[in-house]
Amino acid sequence: MENTQNYNQDLTGKRALVTGGTKGIGKAIADRLAQSGARVIVTARNNPADSDNKHHFIAADLTQPEQVLKLTQEIDEQFGGIDILINNVGGLTTPGGGFSTLSDQDWENELQLNLIAGIRLDRLLLPTMLEQKNGVIIHISSVAGKQPLWNLNMAYAVSKAAVNSYSKALASELASKGVRVLTVSPGATKTPPMEKFVEDFAASAGITVEQAFEQLLYQTGGIPMGRMAEPQEVASLVHFLVSPAAAYLTGTNYAIDGGSLPVV
Ligand SMILES: NC(=O)c1ccc[n+]([C@@H]2O[C@H](COP(=O)([O-])OP(=O)(O)OC[C@H]3O[C@@H](n4cnc5c(N)ncnc54)[C@H](OP(=O)(O)O)[C@@H]3O)[C@@H](O)[C@H]2O)c1
Repeated sequence: MENTQNYNQDLTGKRALVTGGTKGIGKAIADRLAQSGARVIVTARNNPADSDNKHHFIAADLTQPEQVLKLTQEIDEQFGGIDILINNVGGLTTPGGGFSTLSDQDWENELQLNLIAGIRLDRLLLPTMLEQKNGVIIHISSVAGKQPLWNLNMAYAVSKAAVNSYSKALASELASKGVRVLTVSPGATKTPPMEKFVEDFAASAGITVEQAFEQLLYQTGGIPMGRMAEPQEVASLVHFLVSPAAAYLTGTNYAIDGGSLPVV
């Protein structure tokens, strides 16, 4: 029997939601999916002031359950559900310095932003995907989920490790129901918070930004490619993973890190 499946990367007709799609990696993903034909909805707390945002914008703080509910109701009313969900919201919000610097509230905040926000959104948007027997969910994690650095990102790394585990479990649950679930783990990527992180580290250590970058690289074991990722490079991977070209992929976690993770 002839296989009539198209294994291309065309997303024409697909409805995609990119959380945190107004800046950094999320913005690059939103732009890339739109270029490939998808109708893209982006959500963040603040509507970008410039005319740079070409996508349908809905404001929501994803750490607030009632705002997430309102977001999904608006999507259902206006778009009748979605086909592609990119759970990109996240970030390092807690101080470095190890266990003694992290309060209960720090742990709670990190888990809310990096783990629970995505879980909550999946739960609200999955019923439509399951009804249509079609959908792709990407969880943007981090190499920190596999390589925690106690003095820099302990709570963040733990939250991302939990994302990895949740994403794998969800993929197994949904694999036979037409919904694929994948994890993407970027390494250091050139976005405003990453650049600020290096600048703050330089200021606190009394060294230059270049020296700070070198020291951070040293702590992680270095990036064999010797540079950070561009957000567009992460977007390219995500585009492939959500497209028909990746029809047989689910449950896997893709590091995109210039070779930095020291594991096979
Ligand atoms: N950059 C890196 O080096 C790197 C490395 C590994 C993994 N990652 C992961 O990649 C993802 C994106 O990181 P990024 O560096 O691109 O971040 P970013 O440039 O700071 O962008 C974050 C986006 O999320 C939105 N956002 C933040 N908090 C939100 C909330 N509570 N509710 C709704 N929207 C919220 C922001 O808009 P508003 O501020 O207007 O809400 C913005 O659109 C994160 O999950 C991060 O952990 C990044």
